[in-house]
Amino acid sequence: MKNILVTGGAGFIGSNFIRHMLEKHQEYKIINVDVLTYAGNLENLKGIANEQNYKFIKADIRDRKKIDDIFTTYNITTVVNFAAESHVDRSIEEPEVFLTTNIIGTQVLLDTAKKYWKVNPDDKYCKQYKPGVKFLQISTDEVYGALGSTGMFVEAMPLLPNSPYSASKASADLIVRAYHETYGMPVNITRCSNNYGPYQFPEKLIPLMINNCINNKDLPVYGDGMQVRDWLHVSDHCSAIDTVLHKGADGEIYNIGGNNEKTNIEIVKLIIKTLGKSEELIKYVKDRPGHDRRYAIDNSKITSQLGWAPAYTFEEGMKETIEWYLNNTDWIYNIVSGDYQMYYMKMYD
Ligand code: NAD
Ligand code: TYD
Repeated sequence: MKNILVTGGAGFIGSNFIRHMLEKHQEYKIINVDVLTYAGNLENLKGIANEQNYKFIKADIRDRKKIDDIFTTYNITTVVNFAAESHVDRSIEEPEVFLTTNIIGTQVLLDTAKKYWKVNPDDKYCKQYKPGVKFLQISTDEVYGALGSTGMFVEAMPLLPNSPYSASKASADLIVRAYHETYGMPVNITRCSNNYGPYQFPEKLIPLMINNCINNKDLPVYGDGMQVRDWLHVSDHCSAIDTVLHKGADGEIYNIGGNNEKTNIEIVKLIIKTLGKSEELIKYVKDRPGHDRRYAIDNSKITSQLGWAPAYTFEEGMKETIEWYLNNTDWIYNIVSGDYQMYYMKMYD
């Protein structure tokens, strides 16, 4: 049985991924390590806490001793590293934690994996690893920077991140790559476009707009609202990660996206229409500093080389997502009370 360490598994994508893996692969044991920041929520994993092949451990990926203990106790053979500070607006306010978690945390995981996975850990020239081990770094298309009105991100592009968040993710990608080149560590990096779906924290565009719209609150659109993002349903992201985990070639980077570019204002208007509300709720607010204009993913490498394809259309995915938020008002209520109120007032009022 493979023992997979999933970090950040109480967050949006990590929790969806754990559900996906437990459903599709009963042969694996999932060890979820999450420090439970404001974005980590064990309610995202309700219903699976007591499953036999699942274990939650509250720990910080920067805590070398704790991570070492987890590798010994659970004989970890695979790492899927989701743990991160993930919100661009927060990174503009307070960049430092983005650097420590996203970069140093990744390096602690890599170092520990190297120690346990190398056939001869004391020999610095040894590039032989135990069979079947893999370190999968979950990255983002934001590491490439911004596009103009044409073109798409391909894996070979130089990294030109613009926000403290994307700069920290790009730094982590480079460290992961270096562990492959220098130490021969079997790694993959995935770079996905913007995700949407159930359990997304309502500070990100889609859940924030759905929640505000349900509650007849202003819908704060940054700048002219014509920025473009390339949206993918979270379950399609999870199936792509599963594919890379099983079929990805050592050292390779894979872009993940569903060819689904939308302007922010299109998304906001779709949510308003679906919920039967008025466009008068739209409020154009000051633009985000350094706001990336457009992201678009060329997914031809993962589709042609690994045979992955997204299952959702955007229309189906959004319909289902809006319904999910309407049916899970308790989940949202628990999140938007407390600290989130303070964050919201600081950012938007
Ligand atoms: P999220 O903010 O919802 O979840 C992050 C999780 O990491 C939380 O549960 C948090 O408690 C945990 N965490 C934070 N710091 C930690 C630490 N020091 N130690 C242990 N756990 C820690 O984020 P998400 O949207 O689920 O994103 C997950 C990953 O996917 C991130 O690495 C992000 O960069 C990447 N990604 C996200 C998107 C997107 O659209 N959301 C797109 C592409 C890539
Ligand atoms: P976000 O969900 O924060 O993802 P990212 O910045 O990582 O792409 O934002 C998506 C887009 O929506 C981005 O162009 C910023 C914009 N946006 C708004 O216009 N208003 C908001 O309140 C938020 C949170 C985002």
